[in-house]
Amino acid sequence: MEFEGRRVLVTGGTRGIGRTIVAAFLKSGAHVAVNGQSAESVESALAGLAASEKDHIVAAPGDVGTMDGCRAAVEAAVDGLGGLDVLVNNAGINRDGPFLEMTEADWDRVLDVNLKGPMLLTQLAAPAMRRGAGGRVVNVSAVTGIQARRNAVNYCVSKAGLLMLTKCAALELAPDILVNAIGLGFVRSALVEEHFSADQLATIVDETPVRRMGEFEEVADLVLFLASETTAFMTGQTVILDGGRIMR
Ligand SMILES: NC(=O)c1ccc[n+]([C@@H]2O[C@H](COP(=O)([O-])OP(=O)(O)OC[C@H]3O[C@@H](n4cnc5c(N)ncnc54)[C@H](OP(=O)(O)O)[C@@H]3O)[C@@H](O)[C@H]2O)c1
Repeated sequence: MEFEGRRVLVTGGTRGIGRTIVAAFLKSGAHVAVNGQSAESVESALAGLAASEKDHIVAAPGDVGTMDGCRAAVEAAVDGLGGLDVLVNNAGINRDGPFLEMTEADWDRVLDVNLKGPMLLTQLAAPAMRRGAGGRVVNVSAVTGIQARRNAVNYCVSKAGLLMLTKCAALELAPDILVNAIGLGFVRSALVEEHFSADQLATIVDETPVRRMGEFEEVADLVLFLASETTAFMTGQTVILDGGRIMR
C-alpha cells in the first residue's frame, strides 16, 4: 500500500490506459479523483466500481482542453480528496489527417487537450500539491513526440511539446513538485484500434523488437513508479516504454 492516503488526480481516467492507472492507484491505497470530459462519462465509468472502491474515489469531470474544464477538474479533486499529491496528465486525443489537409480546428483541439490542458492543470494543481508533503506530476506523452508519424502533425507536436513542458515545469517547480513523463509506444486501446487498420496493427507489431504492443498494466506500473518515493531524485525526465521501437 505504497500510496496509502495519497491523493491523486488522473485525467482521462474513464477508459483505456487511464482507467487502469486509476485501478492501480486504488489498489495501492490512494484516494483518486477521476476525470473525463463530461460528468456523464465519469459517472458511467464509476458505476462499474465496487462499493469499497467508490469510498476512495471522487468524480472530477471537465474538458481539459479548456481553462474552465481544467479548473473544474482540479477544484473537484482538491475539494473531494481534501488536497492533492499526484497529478497524472493522461487524457489525450487524436485528430489525424495529412499535413496539407490538417484543419485549424483539428490542430487547435489536439493541441488544447494534449498540451495546453497539462500546462493549465499543472499550474492549477501546484498550490494544492505544495501544501502537501511534496507533489508529483506524471505526463503521459508518446514516442511520436520524438519520432515523426505520418498524418499526425498535430498529435506529434502536442506530444513533443508535452516533453518540453515536463522539463520546464520540472525546472521551475522543484524541489516541491517533481515532474516526469512517459514516452509511450503502441498500447492496444480504443484510441489505437480506432485509428489503425488490422494490417497496420500487424505491421506495428512486426516493427516492434519485443513483437507485441504494450499492456495497460505496464503503463500503470510505470506511472506509479514515477509517482513513488523510489524516484524522489528524478525530475524533468522522459522514460520510453515502447518495446524497443525507437531505440537509436
Ligand atoms: N494507446 C496508445 O497506444 C498510446 C500510445 C502513446 C500515447 N498514448 C497516450 O496515452 C493516453 C491515454 O490513451 P488511451 O489509449 O487510453 O486513450 P482512450 O482509450 O481514447 O481514452 C482517452 C481518455 O481521455 C479522456 N479524454 C479525451 N478528451 C478529453 C478531454 N477533452 N477532457 C478530459 N478527458 C478527455 C477520455 O474521456 P471520456 O471517456 O470522457 O471521453 C478517456 O478517458 C493519451 O494521452 C494518449 O495520447 C496512448
